[in-house]
Amino acid sequence: MKIIMLGAPGAGKGTQAKKIAEQYGIPHVSTGDIFRSNIKEGTELGRKAKEYIDQGALVPDGLTIGMLMDRIQNEDCKNGYVLDGFPRTIPQAESLKEALSERGQKIDFAIDVDVADENIINRMAGRRACISCGATYHLVYNPSKVPGICDVCGAELILRDDDKPETVKKRLSVYHDQTKPLIEYYGKTGVLVNVDGTQDLNKVFADIISILGA
Ligand code: AP5
Ligand code: MG
Repeated sequence: MKIIMLGAPGAGKGTQAKKIAEQYGIPHVSTGDIFRSNIKEGTELGRKAKEYIDQGALVPDGLTIGMLMDRIQNEDCKNGYVLDGFPRTIPQAESLKEALSERGQKIDFAIDVDVADENIINRMAGRRACISCGATYHLVYNPSKVPGICDVCGAELILRDDDKPETVKKRLSVYHDQTKPLIEYYGKTGVLVNVDGTQDLNKVFADIISILGA
């Protein structure tokens, strides 16, 4: 099964993508996580990506598309994957479509996790991310067992630099300009499904499972 997660920054794409990946035994592929791990390791790609991410802008397609295409050619992706944060522009969607059709493949579902802008800023301010493994929590809606410590690996939890309110506003405006048109794009191809992302995160997941099939 090949799945794309759509939705604004903070809509819960990553939260749901991890649950889907676990449920169906397919990898969770997040371009944001790949960039953050490159930044942490100090690679050339990470250095370039950081300039854009810190400002709430998109990393240019020229850096992003090749990186994602390499990732989905890995052996672990042969039975499908859940893409979180890609595509984010029409050219990214077109490149993905071409690469898949060359292999006689296609996307099965594009899941739009719908959350209004008013809810997003509040959510982001409460998000905490693990500096080591990238697991995410929320101070109120999804707290770690020990405050400030990752349940998965025991490392410290931080507020991401790009989750500060000013940068979140910029990310939302970039989302509306460049990424939201993908909802119409995938609507036309008949793979788009919508879920109400303002519900409790377990209810959002139950809705997704009822669409994808158990
Ligand atoms: P990325 O890491 O993908 O960030 P994003 O899309 O802005 O999305 P987030 O990770 O912030 O939100 P999310 O929807 O995953 O929400 P989450 O589940 O964490 O990208 C970062 C940057 O990298 C981009 O700005 C860009 O610069 C660059 N980049 C990445 N991909 C790119 C691409 N393809 N092209 C170009 N540039 C790219 O949830 C948010 C919070 O809410 C959490 O605290 C969570 O616990 C909580 N929460 C989740 N669900 C619920 C719920 N139902 N109720 C209450 N709280 C909830
Ligand atoms: Mg995410």
